[in-house]
Amino acid sequence: MEIRKAQRSDAQRAFELRTLAIRSECKDHYSDEALTLWTEGSATEKFMDTVEQNFHVVMFEGEVAGTGMINTKDGMIDAIFVDPRFMGMGVARKMMAHLEQLAREAGLAQMKLDSTLNAAPFYRRCGFSGDKVSTYHSPRGIQLDCIPMTKSLSE
Ligand SMILES: CC(C)(COP(=O)(O)OP(=O)(O)OC[C@H]1O[C@@H](n2cnc3c(N)ncnc32)[C@H](O)[C@@H]1OP(=O)(O)O)[C@@H](O)C(=O)NCCC(=O)NCCS
Repeated sequence: MEIRKAQRSDAQRAFELRTLAIRSECKDHYSDEALTLWTEGSATEKFMDTVEQNFHVVMFEGEVAGTGMINTKDGMIDAIFVDPRFMGMGVARKMMAHLEQLAREAGLAQMKLDSTLNAAPFYRRCGFSGDKVSTYHSPRGIQLDCIPMTKSLSE
């Protein structure tokens, strides 16, 4: 398992993986309507730009198994998705450790994210805290329940 910066050519796979991960893991926590809105359509130019500029990918057995990104200006983590075929193997944990390293190198005091309702226990395993449900306004104009969480890097 290794991590590398994403390239523009990873965008289709990253979009497909995002769809698979959401449909597999979020279905017990969100309505069918929300899941459809969340995963419909295809990778836009804006999505491809974001992948090329900000995404990192976990490679496993020659495939992109997981994605993730961090804004090293404000510590915001996003796009943590794992292909269901590779879940439970430490892919997301490896990505989180990599993003934490980038945050530390950037001198950030904390990382933050808006967790899906299903993923909050995973983030707690990674040292994040937070349990209040809030509303996530997605870049595609969708509103979803989420749990804002933070992890201090100072200690
Ligand atoms: C949440 C997600 C990223 C976890 O990915 P993963 O690669 O399967 O997680 P890992 O194998 O690295 O798990 C690391 C630890 O978290 C635990 N964990 C992972 N997912 C969990 C879950 N849904 N509930 C409770 N614990 C979980 C694992 O058991 C493991 O614990 P351990 O350290 O005791 O062994 C993945 O299930 C996913 O893509 N979900 C759908 C998309 C999503 O909701 N993403 C979050 C967007 S904010």
